[in-house]
Amino acid sequence: MTAPPRRASPPRPCIRTPAPEPLAFGRDAWHHHVTRIVAARDEVAGVRTYDLAFRDPDAAAGYVFAPGQFNMLYLPGIGEAAISISSDPRERAFVGHTVKAVGNVTQALERLGAGDEVVLRGPFGTAWPLEELRGRDVVIVTGGVGLASVRSAIFQIIAARGDYGRVAVLFGAKTPAGLIYTDEYDRWRAAGIEVLLTVDEADSNWTGRVGLVTALFDDLDLSPASSGLICCGPEPMMLAVVKRAGAAGIFPGDTYLSMERNMSCAARLCGLCQFGPEFVCRDGPVFPYDRIARFLEIRHL
Ligand SMILES: Cc1cc2nc3c(=O)[nH]c(=O)nc-3n(C[C@H](O)[C@H](O)[C@H](O)COP(=O)(O)OP(=O)(O)OC[C@H]3O[C@@H](n4cnc5c(N)ncnc54)[C@H](O)[C@@H]3O)c2cc1C
Ligand code: FES
Repeated sequence: MTAPPRRASPPRPCIRTPAPEPLAFGRDAWHHHVTRIVAARDEVAGVRTYDLAFRDPDAAAGYVFAPGQFNMLYLPGIGEAAISISSDPRERAFVGHTVKAVGNVTQALERLGAGDEVVLRGPFGTAWPLEELRGRDVVIVTGGVGLASVRSAIFQIIAARGDYGRVAVLFGAKTPAGLIYTDEYDRWRAAGIEVLLTVDEADSNWTGRVGLVTALFDDLDLSPASSGLICCGPEPMMLAVVKRAGAAGIFPGDTYLSMERNMSCAARLCGLCQFGPEFVCRDGPVFPYDRIARFLEIRHL
C-alpha cells in the first residue's frame, strides 16, 4: 500500500488543547495484577520484548490503555520499574513491554522467560495526542529504546491510517545492531509510513545515514504548520529535536515529549519524578513541549 495522497492542509493554529488527563487511573494506584510471560523476544542485545498475559480473565477484560502510557512492573523481592506499553492497544491477549536491561529490575527480568510471573500496576500517565493529530501530518522521532514508547501509537495510526496525513518515523540508534523492531519496518512502510533511520556509528554492512536523528529532518517533505511531532528518547536528544523541529517550522505547542524520569510510586505521592511543578508519573510522561520548556533546559533538574 502506498501513502495516502497528501492533504492540502492550510496552516493551522498549534494544538492548544490542555494536556491530556491521566487515563484509566480511577482505581487505587496500588491495585496490582499478576501476569505471566507468554512470549519473550530478543530485539537486540540487552533489549527484550515481553508479552504479559493477565492471570485473572476479568482483569484482562477490564484492562485498557492508550499509547504513551506505562505500567509499573514488579518482581517480588527485587523491585519495580516504569516501562512503556509497546503493544497494539487493540490486542486483548497480552500487554507488551520492550525493556532495556540496565539495573536491578530490568536485569532480573532478563533472566525470566515464558511461563514466569511478573506483577503489574497500571496503566499510568498521559497519552500521545493521537486524537488531536487526526487530519494532520505526524512526525515521530525517537532514539534507542525510546521507540518502545511510540510503537503502540504506530499500531493505532496504522489502524486509522486514512485519518492522518503524512506520517514519518525518524529513528536513531548508536549502531545498526541497536535498531529495534527491524522486522516491523516493512509493515509500517507498507501502511504508508515513511521510516527514516540513522546510526551514530556505521558497520561494514550499513549503507544508510550516519549522524544524529535531527539530520533526518533534511530528508522530510512536510507541511510544518500542519504537523504534530511526538518524541521519546534521551533528554539531550529531545532538546536537539525540539530545536530542529522549531527551525523546520513545527510549532512548539505541536511538539509532544515523553519524559522518562526515575519513578517510584507512580501515584503522585513520593515526589521522585517531580519536574518543576509537574509530577511526571501523573501529569506526564507525555507533555506538550511548551508546558515544560522552561524546565527542560535546566541541567540536573
Ligand atoms: C514513563 C517511563 C517509561 C519508561 N519506559 C521504558 C521502556 O519502555 N523500556 C525501558 O527499557 N525503560 C523504560 N523506562 C526506564 C526504566 O524505568 C528505567 O531504566 C528503570 O530505572 C529500570 O529499572 P532498574 O531497576 O532495572 O534500574 P535501576 O537499578 O533503577 O537503574 C539503573 C541505572 O539507570 C539509571 N536510570 C534509571 N532510570 C533512568 C532513567 N529514566 N533515565 C536515565 N537513567 C536512569 C539509574 O540512575 C541507574 O544508574 C521508562 C521510564 C519511565 C519513567
Ligand atoms: S513517582 Fe512518586 S510522585 Fe511520581
